[in-house]
Amino acid sequence: MGATGSHFVIPLTHQTSLPQSHLKSPRRALITGISGQDGSYLAEFLLAKGYDVHGVVRRSSNLTRDRLDRISDLPRSNLHYGDVTDASSLMRLVLELEPDEIYNLAAQSHVRVSFDNPGYTVEVGAMGALNVLEAARLLNERRPVRVYQASTSEMFGGAPGTAPQSETTRFHPRSPYGCAKLYAHAQVINYRESYDLFACCGILFNHESPRRGENFVTRKISLGVGRIREGLQEKLCLGNLEARRDWGYAGDFVEAMWLMLQQESPEEYVIATGETHSVREFLEVAFTTAGLDWREHVETDERFFRPAEVDVLLGDASKAAEKLNWRPTTSFESLARMMVEHDRDLAQRERWAQERIAHAGLEK
Ligand code: NAP
Ligand code: GDD
Repeated sequence: MGATGSHFVIPLTHQTSLPQSHLKSPRRALITGISGQDGSYLAEFLLAKGYDVHGVVRRSSNLTRDRLDRISDLPRSNLHYGDVTDASSLMRLVLELEPDEIYNLAAQSHVRVSFDNPGYTVEVGAMGALNVLEAARLLNERRPVRVYQASTSEMFGGAPGTAPQSETTRFHPRSPYGCAKLYAHAQVINYRESYDLFACCGILFNHESPRRGENFVTRKISLGVGRIREGLQEKLCLGNLEARRDWGYAGDFVEAMWLMLQQESPEEYVIATGETHSVREFLEVAFTTAGLDWREHVETDERFFRPAEVDVLLGDASKAAEKLNWRPTTSFESLARMMVEHDRDLAQRERWAQERIAHAGLEK
């Protein structure tokens, strides 16, 4: 199967199956953004539930599929080249695969970057979601399909006095990313009401893991702690340390996505831990875990501040607790420790590799 080393992409023509055989086969899910943090956890979760999992991956000059290593050899996981901004190929893929469930996780998901690349962020986050909805609408005329849209707490804007934010809190996005996501959110509701499409939005608050992208603050900190502990760097440059986020564990949050699509009717759900912590507090736990004092290593740099900041996010997930029976299982402290332990291990291997190279150099 390996078209690209340990990763594989099955030609689309081999994926087509007739609706009759589909009736007997396991449930089929299509995930856009499968190579991202959430996509990889969701794929593992669905495979464990017996789904056939199909994922859309973008072609790039560098393979970015490390997060999929655990599932790439499993027979029920399949990758397809595609892009949510390419409406016709997305439509073809959806109509050929006839998934029972579509999870639209694709996004340029970095808030600071969205200020630098607003057009691109909107193209993927807003128009990409519309393309997914259009494809689902057409498929839905043939056979039922359920759609999950990755909405975000960024849509709330975090103005003072609005916390805790719930499904009824007013939206006031403060970034191109947040605006794009709000457009997609509104379209999901519009498609549901206009075409009777089973489409849900999960309004997810920040969720992290050892698979988090390296330029999000928690991972930047855990990677920094690991490298400082191993003597590979001395300083860590950050932006606003006072911002507060409701940080949960990504592995917990993907279950909520699936639960939303198993309900009788499609609705919006806030998914959050119900605790808020500052970046400073995350620093405290992360550095202490490694026996370090963050004050000796952290500097602030204007480059990492944003034109507009979301000050406080704190989610009220009582609807999800009541209707989905969903609850987070990982505390803020456990999450920070899990990430630091993972990244200390990475840094240790980096140091050993450097030492081996230096040693080999001496022997020449
Ligand atoms: P992530 O790690 O940045 O992953 C984003 C995924 O989208 C990657 O697989 C990326 O592919 C893919 N992608 C980007 N542009 C694409 C395009 N044009 N066509 C197809 N795929 C594209 O994000 P995440 O943390 O897993 O988050 C998943 C989703 O939830 C995102 O929509 C995000 O905005 C939303 N969300 C995240 C959080 C959070 O705290 N993590 C909270 C609320 C909402 P490449 O690997 O090729 O870049
Ligand atoms: N990335 C980053 N880098 N953020 C920093 C830094 C830094 O060096 N220093 C301070 N911060 C602050 C940011 O200003 C922000 O207030 C907070 O740390 C969290 O930043 P990120 O980790 O980049 O996440 P985010 O909250 O902006 O966005 C994430 O969560 C959203 C849900 O609320 C992303 O995953 C979004 O895709 C998601 O929708």
